[in-house]
Amino acid sequence: MPDHITVPLLDLKPQYQALKPEIDAAIQAVVDSQYFILGPTVSDFEAKCAQYCNTPHALGCASGSDALLLALMAVVPGVPKIDGQVICPSYTFFATGGAISRLGLTPVYADIDPVTYNMCPEHVAELAEQCDNLVAILPVHLYGQACDLDAILALGEQHGVPVIEDAAQAIGTRDAQGEMVGTRGAVGTWSFFPSKNLGGFGDAGLCSTSDPDVAERLRIDRVHGMEPKYYHKQIGVNSRLDALQAAVLSVKLDHLESWHEARQRNAAFYDKAFAAAGAVDSRTPIAEGGFPLRTPYANPAPARHIYNQYVIRVPEGMRDELRAHLGERKIGSEIYYPVPLHMQECFADLGYAPEDLPESLLASRETIALPIYPDLTQEQLEHVADTIVTWVGERAAVGA
Ligand SMILES: Cc1ncc(COP(=O)(O)O)c(C=O)c1O
Repeated sequence: MPDHITVPLLDLKPQYQALKPEIDAAIQAVVDSQYFILGPTVSDFEAKCAQYCNTPHALGCASGSDALLLALMAVVPGVPKIDGQVICPSYTFFATGGAISRLGLTPVYADIDPVTYNMCPEHVAELAEQCDNLVAILPVHLYGQACDLDAILALGEQHGVPVIEDAAQAIGTRDAQGEMVGTRGAVGTWSFFPSKNLGGFGDAGLCSTSDPDVAERLRIDRVHGMEPKYYHKQIGVNSRLDALQAAVLSVKLDHLESWHEARQRNAAFYDKAFAAAGAVDSRTPIAEGGFPLRTPYANPAPARHIYNQYVIRVPEGMRDELRAHLGERKIGSEIYYPVPLHMQECFADLGYAPEDLPESLLASRETIALPIYPDLTQEQLEHVADTIVTWVGERAAVGA
């Protein structure tokens, strides 16, 4: 075993070292200007981001979680004073469901497609029929792969409700039409949490929209609903993108495409190494047997997966043991997500049983994310793949 190799789940230090002169200069320029909240550095970044995402309006805010709150406030009339339902996936980061509840709305959790881990449109259709006051649909583009946006937008239209795209993990992801995600729904929401493909030096987020009225509402709501200064027609929040984050993100945005490509190369390396051992992709259920590992299925071009996470699937009984084994070999991994939202204690009053969303439950027990960041070396990639192939192969032979 090559003892000298460690592979963290994510290591951002090489990225910073490579860009240090540019980033340090951008930070210093903000410090020199002493203009820290919104202002020209933020507007420049918003314009650059709008161009990258192919959207007319991009409004920075304090986090991806706040972006969700602002989006719901902007497109669901009457919040937080109405009682309404929002359909979203259960298998996602907490912020998706949390934002809905924080505004007094009720999350209605949909199950996922086990192939892509994204919200299943057929289940959304069923739930939408059962809702008595559906006010929005909130899909997530999980792990950096687009959900079935065509189907979900059609459902939004059919039920007369806005679709908000949680694109926190998916900047640069393209959907089945080849369109940038976050641009076809009423609002797209983004996170620049450091672990995202475009990550800041702290918390940061953004909303995108093609509707100028929605953009105006977002612009006002992120500063306490204030327009003009010290006059409030509506109650907003304090959620502004600060200039230091915008400066860092602006430098990094110029390199984002090359990082996506590196992540795709790393994913292709893993795919090939696991396939050589007999693994197939997630279109074949793990219960069907064969080598007990499923690689992530990526929708074909013009769709584009940006691999914010590279998530494999192994049988439930093996997952936690594999994670422990990787830890012993100094290989980082993570479980996204061990407890789907419909099973979270804070949502117990919604009355879900774990089995109500069987695919979400199963994914929470069988999936594990591997290191995929752009700066991984060939040696590190090989170490991860070899370690997994050997362990899964041995474990399968023992279990057989
Ligand atoms: C799907 C999803 N939605 C929302 C968020 C919230 O973003 P933030 O951490 O910037 O608040 C995240 C962050 O991890 C996320 O993954």
